[in-house]
Amino acid sequence: MALPVIEILGLTKDFPTGFWRKRMRRSLDGLTLAVEEGEIFGFLGPNGAGKTTTLKLLMGLIFPTAGTAHILGRSIDDTQMHREIGYLPEQPYFYDYLTARELLDYYARFFGYGAAERRQRVARMLERVGLADAGGVQLRKFSKGMLQRVGIAQAILHDPRVIFLDEPMSGLDPIGRREVRDIILGLKRQGRTVFFSTHILSDAEMICDRVGVLHLGKLRGVGAPGEILSMESHGMEILFEMRAGRALPADLLPRAAQTGQRYRIEVPEAELYGVLEQLRDCEARILSLAPVRPSLEDYFLRLVESPAATPAVEEPVR
Ligand SMILES: Nc1ncnc2c1ncn2[C@@H]1O[C@H](COP(=O)(O)OP(=O)(O)O)[C@@H](O)[C@H]1O
Ligand SMILES: [Mg+2]
Repeated sequence: MALPVIEILGLTKDFPTGFWRKRMRRSLDGLTLAVEEGEIFGFLGPNGAGKTTTLKLLMGLIFPTAGTAHILGRSIDDTQMHREIGYLPEQPYFYDYLTARELLDYYARFFGYGAAERRQRVARMLERVGLADAGGVQLRKFSKGMLQRVGIAQAILHDPRVIFLDEPMSGLDPIGRREVRDIILGLKRQGRTVFFSTHILSDAEMICDRVGVLHLGKLRGVGAPGEILSMESHGMEILFEMRAGRALPADLLPRAAQTGQRYRIEVPEAELYGVLEQLRDCEARILSLAPVRPSLEDYFLRLVESPAATPAVEEPVR
């Protein structure tokens, strides 16, 4: 069993709310979670779930109302620990008139690297995020995807062991999303731990070892994407065509959806071979066979639909 590099215990955050800011609203409610070394962990949840709040707490940018967390065995209020982790904020702001290379060089100075080391590191990071040719281009000329990649380069500049990315794929087109996914997978190959938040489920499903689903400040499930999905019974979908003059077996007829010559039928896994034999007997041509899986999206929607109001904490703020 790998070591937990992120250990979160009962992390809770209340924010003042309302015009007079006298009431508190619980944005994160007792989050307990451990992430192991070398994992890609997807922190999923719809907007407002509390993902950014969690990341800001872990980064020491805001302070918990209750609970604790450790990263690499050290408390989140240990400033030395923060030199060993990387962070991409949700909407990073960059200076438009700097080039990518200048921006990264600027950040590299915070780590005390000498000029030669900085030049070499910045070049390596630009290469790693696929911007080797764009280092001399001003950021205002960058696409959203390129900016996001500069942001990731900034987060990994000092070779951190744990990298936190807040919505690294948001606002990107499919190609940009794939590029970010590939960068994350590359970090994993190097043995790094990546914790990223997203509301784009398919991105998490593809690359995460495990996901956690956050909704209204509460963790609603943790597991391998496949585990979370297999909590549902699932069957197989068969797509087939009937030859002219052949009829579909009577017992399949009510279950099949027809479009022209084509039929689509969903069968529980236990009945699969029986149905396939029936189809062979009537010389149907199988076009495709695929598992019917509820997507993480379905799982998500059900969570979101289940009524659970955000708890209000009725304490005045000083
Ligand atoms: N600084 C803040 N002050 C008051 N409320 C906040 C603050 N930051 C976040 N919230 C509230 O906390 C909840 C969770 O927000 P956030 O963590 O940004 O969610 P997510 O990143 O999952 O979209 C939201 O209801 C949001 O309005
Ligand atoms: Mg957010």
